[in-house]
Amino acid sequence: MTAPRPDTTRLQRIAKAYWETGALFAAIDLEAFTLIDAGHNRVDTLGQAAGIGPLNAERLLDALAGMALVERAQDGAYRNAPDVDRFLVKERRGYAGEWMTFLRENWGDWNRIAEIMKAGDESDRLGMYDDLTEESARKYHAATYSIGMGAARKFHREVDLTGRRKIMDLGGGSGAYCINAAEKYPEIEAVVLDLPPVVPVALDYIAENGVAGRVTAKACDFTADPLPEGCDVAIQASNLPIYDRKVIGQLIRRIYDALEPGGEYHLIGEMVNNDRMGPLAPALWGLYEAIPRSQGHAHSISECEGYLAAAGFERISSVEFVPGTLTRTTGYKPG
Ligand SMILES: C[S@@+](CC[C@H](N)C(=O)[O-])C[C@H]1O[C@@H](n2cnc3c(N)ncnc32)[C@H](O)[C@@H]1O
Repeated sequence: MTAPRPDTTRLQRIAKAYWETGALFAAIDLEAFTLIDAGHNRVDTLGQAAGIGPLNAERLLDALAGMALVERAQDGAYRNAPDVDRFLVKERRGYAGEWMTFLRENWGDWNRIAEIMKAGDESDRLGMYDDLTEESARKYHAATYSIGMGAARKFHREVDLTGRRKIMDLGGGSGAYCINAAEKYPEIEAVVLDLPPVVPVALDYIAENGVAGRVTAKACDFTADPLPEGCDVAIQASNLPIYDRKVIGQLIRRIYDALEPGGEYHLIGEMVNNDRMGPLAPALWGLYEAIPRSQGHAHSISECEGYLAAAGFERISSVEFVPGTLTRTTGYKPG
């Protein structure tokens, strides 16, 4: 048996993947999915409602159909695919349009990432977070909140914190994990630790969700500042590839030291498999770190388990959290 002769199909698809991004962003910007849901679900009615005319509506709907984002009935009416219906129709609880588009400003950087990597001198410690202002943090966390509340609900379905007293959430952002904990466990307290511009933003989300009595937010650069005492749970979600092995290893030792005996630590991160052959999404988060010139990169699952073991954590395990993107590695401090 001879191997099939390679062709260019796969390479052409990857080379033009940004066209798909453009079509999706156009649909989000035009609120096309929301309009379809509201009944503007034909070429002419969508063209009119979105203000792009029937020709462009046909172009857009053809592209969206090609990506299986919309389906077309026999009579020519379109409807949203189930994931689009849940996450890209405005006013739905799960609306995640902000999250889907929040890195669009980097589009041009991806086009010149080879040049950026050649420029070298990756010296900034916090990378993309160096220039954070309260205004940019507010915009950024509108995006993380839109996706983080769902992830946090999933976390609390999968991890039982019954009997725990206090959580520290390292880089807790909007406070999604702490807000959901406070809603589920009537006794639990929590502190969101994040960079100074994020704190007022987190406090707003905490107040909005009615849990300000038990959840607070505190300015803390977790790579340098002291960590709070008296916590028996530590959660760190979605900031792993920003940092290199040394910073993450040191941080996890400090988390171990700060936790109460018997406490538990959950690292939810974009991890590649141990052979570093995928999945793609965590690898791309690692590559993305070249743009803000941080020292960050993708970490493998066994590397993360190794950081926990070196710090002293026991009963270490890893489970898939969000397929193809996030793994949850957990360890316990001996009691
Ligand atoms: C992608 S967001 C995730 C937010 C939240 N954990 C979630 O999953 O919804 C990453 C967060 O880590 C925070 N962060 C990154 N480096 C940090 C540091 N050195 N100290 C404190 N927070 C940090 C960022 O400010 C940001 O809020």
